[in-house]
Amino acid sequence: MSDTTQSTHTSAAGRSGNPLWSSRLAFILAATGSAVGLGNIWKFPYITGENGGGAFVLVYLLCIALVGLPILIAEVMLGRRGRRSPIQTMTQLARQDGRSPRWALVGWSGVIAGYLILSFYSVIGGWSLAYVGKAASGDFAGASSDTIGTMFGGLLSNPGTLMLWHSLFMLIVLAIVIRGLKSGMEKAINLLMPLLFLLLLVMVGYAMSTSGFSQAVSFLFQPDFSKLTTEAVLTALGHAFFTLSLASGAMMAYGSFLPKEYSLVSTAATIAIVDTVVALLAGLAIFPLVFANGLEPAAGPGLIFQTLPLAFSNMAFGTLFGTLFFALLLIAAITSAISMLEPAVEWLEEKKGIGRLKGALLAGGSVWLLGITTVLSFNHWSDLHPLAFLPAFEGKTFFDIFDYLTANIMLPLGGLFMVLYAGWCMKPQALAQALALPESPVFNGLRFVMRFVAPLLVVVVFVNQLF
Ligand code: PHE
Repeated sequence: MSDTTQSTHTSAAGRSGNPLWSSRLAFILAATGSAVGLGNIWKFPYITGENGGGAFVLVYLLCIALVGLPILIAEVMLGRRGRRSPIQTMTQLARQDGRSPRWALVGWSGVIAGYLILSFYSVIGGWSLAYVGKAASGDFAGASSDTIGTMFGGLLSNPGTLMLWHSLFMLIVLAIVIRGLKSGMEKAINLLMPLLFLLLLVMVGYAMSTSGFSQAVSFLFQPDFSKLTTEAVLTALGHAFFTLSLASGAMMAYGSFLPKEYSLVSTAATIAIVDTVVALLAGLAIFPLVFANGLEPAAGPGLIFQTLPLAFSNMAFGTLFGTLFFALLLIAAITSAISMLEPAVEWLEEKKGIGRLKGALLAGGSVWLLGITTVLSFNHWSDLHPLAFLPAFEGKTFFDIFDYLTANIMLPLGGLFMVLYAGWCMKPQALAQALALPESPVFNGLRFVMRFVAPLLVVVVFVNQLF
């Protein structure tokens, strides 16, 4: 990292002993570490497959640009102004700006959403962990698509094994959160993100050599709007929030460590672009394999675990590449998971005076317990639909419920209120100053998007879904 001006300044708001990010790049890496995760490589491909491809991808890209990016800017800005955990930040800002104390609910909703997401994220992170082991022991070598399908089915049907991996994943996340956010993380992400990127390129390279590549490109980039349902539009919007880690405390918490002078617009744009490119590369690596092997694009959450091993089974050095790939996926998942737990731990520290170790154990331990419901959703409880009496949750397992409730409801609503706060509750000069952006046409355009475009789009998608 070349522009490291190891900063010793602590925040003005008095979070003593909490140094700020050592450079703008450090923040970008940490925030990208949060954004790039299972959402890009696991979730984006499978929901794209389930929702018919091109038209869904296009709507998703529009959601990132018109809703996700402005909300990312707003969220990091609020975090930087508040310099506290998300709940305290919103409480403090509302007081300072003479607004209702109810704005603290936005912080609450974020912390709770991050916490709920982590409960299932850790289980899927566990799958990645299991697959590092499978790849390393050469299980993929020469395996047919049937063998690979059975391998994945076998993992899901065994709650004991799933628990083991879920627990291990959670322990790793806890170990890092206990040591504090910044020690070690800056350095790790600095090395690993580029490596992940490189490996994805290798995978895309391999995918290009298969017979399914052109079909995959048209599947991903030729929109067929007849395949687009209102539900798919909500899923695309929800995923834009999920993949950018929005409205779940993470970006607000990370923003709180960002030095005041950095402009937020280019910083946030960099994060959004990297995140989007990773998702598209994942799609380009996976769908050619789906089509070349006659697999089902709408296979659901198992999609990458049933397709990528096929590539490793055939390619030269497949065992090596396979191990490396799942290890990097695991690391991407860990750097995201850390950012989901951090806000809750910060809040316990700050408000309840609970030490970091205890707070992390308390928050992490209870998330782990909650995760058991997701573990069981794939086997014993796969037919249990606890909220079936509500139309939106019909046919949904615990895992489906946590996923839907967070991505499709809590994150869009939380994000809506954040951008409304930035656009309507802050005076233009205050906003410009908080963004470190001069009052210029760029600023005016951004403020317009924050006041009208982003909120309206979220509301329209919601209303459409309701009726
Ligand atoms: N953005 C992460 C991913 O794509 C998930 C995440 C959601 C992280 C919410 C933090 C908060 O995997």
